[in-house]
Amino acid sequence: MQAPSGSPRAAVVTGGSLGIGAAIARRLGHDGFAVVIDYHAHREPADAIRQELEAAGGHATVVQADMGQIADIRNLIDTCVKTYGRIDVLVNNAGVEKPTPFLDITEDQWDQQLAVDLKGPFFATQAAAQAMKAQGGGKIINISSIHEEQPMVGNAPYCCAKGGLRMMTRTLAPELAPHHISIVNVGPGAIATPINATTLNDPVKMQALLAEIPLQRIGQPEDIANIVAWLATDQASYITGTTFFVDGGMLVNAGAL
Ligand code: BGC
Repeated sequence: MQAPSGSPRAAVVTGGSLGIGAAIARRLGHDGFAVVIDYHAHREPADAIRQELEAAGGHATVVQADMGQIADIRNLIDTCVKTYGRIDVLVNNAGVEKPTPFLDITEDQWDQQLAVDLKGPFFATQAAAQAMKAQGGGKIINISSIHEEQPMVGNAPYCCAKGGLRMMTRTLAPELAPHHISIVNVGPGAIATPINATTLNDPVKMQALLAEIPLQRIGQPEDIANIVAWLATDQASYITGTTFFVDGGMLVNAGAL
C-alpha cells in the first residue's frame, strides 16, 4: 500500500544489527523505506547501518528491544509509528538457536528459545497489525527456517518455535486479510551468518553441510534480503499465508537417490 505522498513507507526489522536482519534493514533502507532497526545486544553495527542509510539520503532509527519482553516489543512498534507516522512492513527476523540434545534441555532453555523465536514474533505481529489496521493495511514478513518443515536432530525447541511460526502465519493470514494485512514466511536454509559461525569455521562440518545443498553453496544474507525486498513491494500483493524457502534446494535434497 502507498504511504501518503511525500512520506516514505516505514519498516521495522527485528534483529536488524547482524546477519540476515542487517542485510534486510540495509536493503529496505536503500529501496526507500524508513527503517527502524531493532537490536538486542549489538548497537554499533545497527548504528553503522543507520549512518549508511542516512548518508544515502534515507531515514533510519535504532531501537533496543528484547523480543521476549512484551513492553519492549510495543515500544519498538510505537517508535516506528510515532517517528514515521505509520508501519507498512514488519520483518520478524530476530531469533536465537542453541542446539542441545532433547534429553538435556532445561525449562529455562525452552522458555528463552520460545520467547524470542515465537512469542516475540507473535506479539510484534499483534502490535504491528493493530497499527496497520488503523492505517488501512500492511505486511508481516517472518524469517522462519527450513526447520519449520524439516526436523533437525538436537535442536528441538528451535524446530518447535519455527513450526509454530509456520502455523502462526497460516492461522493469521485469513484473520488479518479483512484488514488488508498480509503475512508470509521466508524460510532460509544454511546462510553465512553468526548463527552458523561454528560450521563456517570448521572445514569438515562445511563439507558435510555442502553435501546437503543441491546448489552447492552456503547462502548469503543478501539471498534472503532479495526476496524480502520483493515481498515488501506491491508486486507481492496477492500473497499471504504461505512460506517461501530460500535454501539452495536443501529441503528437496534427494541424497544419493
Ligand atoms: C539454522 C542453521 C542451519 C540451517 C540449515 C537454519 O534455520 O539457523 O543453523 O544451518 O537452518 O539447517
